[in-house]
Amino acid sequence: MSLSVNHLLGIKDLTQTDILTIFQMAEQFKEVINRPIKKVPSLRDITIANVFFENSTRTRISFELAQKRLSADVVNFSASNSSVSKGETLLDTVNNILAMKVDMIVMRHSSAGAPHFLSKHINAAIINAGDGTHEHPTQALLDTFSIREKLGEVAGKKVAIIGDISHSRVALSNIFALQKLGAEVTLCGMPTLIPKFISQLGVKVSHNLRETLEWCDVANVLRIQLERQEVKNIPSLREYSLYYGINKELLDSLKKEIVIMHPGPINRGVEIDSDVADSDHSIILNQVENGVAIRMAVLYLLAEKIKRN
Ligand code: CP
Repeated sequence: MSLSVNHLLGIKDLTQTDILTIFQMAEQFKEVINRPIKKVPSLRDITIANVFFENSTRTRISFELAQKRLSADVVNFSASNSSVSKGETLLDTVNNILAMKVDMIVMRHSSAGAPHFLSKHINAAIINAGDGTHEHPTQALLDTFSIREKLGEVAGKKVAIIGDISHSRVALSNIFALQKLGAEVTLCGMPTLIPKFISQLGVKVSHNLRETLEWCDVANVLRIQLERQEVKNIPSLREYSLYYGINKELLDSLKKEIVIMHPGPINRGVEIDSDVADSDHSIILNQVENGVAIRMAVLYLLAEKIKRN
C-alpha cells in the first residue's frame, strides 16, 4: 500500500485509491489504539515537528497522540512563543527546525498555500493541518471515514455542509473528499456565507435549512468563523441561530433521522444546540476518536515513502 503523493497538502491532490488506502490503514490503527498497549514501533526512526502558527485543540493533540502511538520523536512549535514574533520568515523558521534533522513537518498556518510553498523549498514531508480558508485534509479524511463507519459507505450518500462555507477550510476539503468517494453534496447557509462560484465545483447550494435537512442523510455543521470575517456577513449571532441553527425541535419535525457531525470547536446555541450535539444522532466524538487513527495512517504512509526514497 502506497500513496501517490509525497506530501499531504490537500484532498484535491489525492486519488480515490489514496483515500481508500488511508482508510484501510486507519482501520488497523483504530484497532491498535483500542488495545491496552496503544503503541507500535513503526515510526521510531522518524522525527516530526508540529509547527502551529494558528490556534488548535483537536488537530494539534490528535497529531501529537498519533505520532506518539507510532513511537516517532516529536517536537512542538507554536508561533506565539517563538522567534517568529522577532520577524523571522516562515522559510527561515522551518529551515532552522529542519537543520535539527527533522523528517516531517505538520503545519497549520493562517495563509492559504503556506504548506504548498514550503513543500517546494524544503526537503521534508509536509502535512497540511489547515491553511487559512483553503484546505484541512486530515479533517475531511476523518469526516468521510466517520460517515463510512456509521452508514457503511459514502458512495450515494447525501451530505449537507451547513454554515459558514466562505471562511471554512473544512468545507472545501470535505467537498473534494465526498465527491471523490461518490457522495452528493449540498452547501446550505446564508447567501453572504457561501462563495458565489462554488456551484462550479459540482455541489448544490441551498439557503433553506429545512429543505436541506429533509434531503440529506448527513448534516455536517460548521461554526461561524467571526475571527476570519473582515466585514460583517451576518446581522447577529442570534438571528443566525434563528434561521440556520440546528435544534432538536427542527430535527424532530423531519420525517427521518439524520447523522449529525461537527468538526469543532462548537459554538453551542449558535449553529447547533447542545441537545443535538450531545444526542444519539451525533457522531461528533467519534470524529475526534477517528482523527487519531486517520492521522496515524497518513503519518505511517508518508513515512514509508521517506524510508524508500
Ligand atoms: N477541527 C479542528 O481543526 O479543530 P482545532 O482548530 O481545535 O484543531
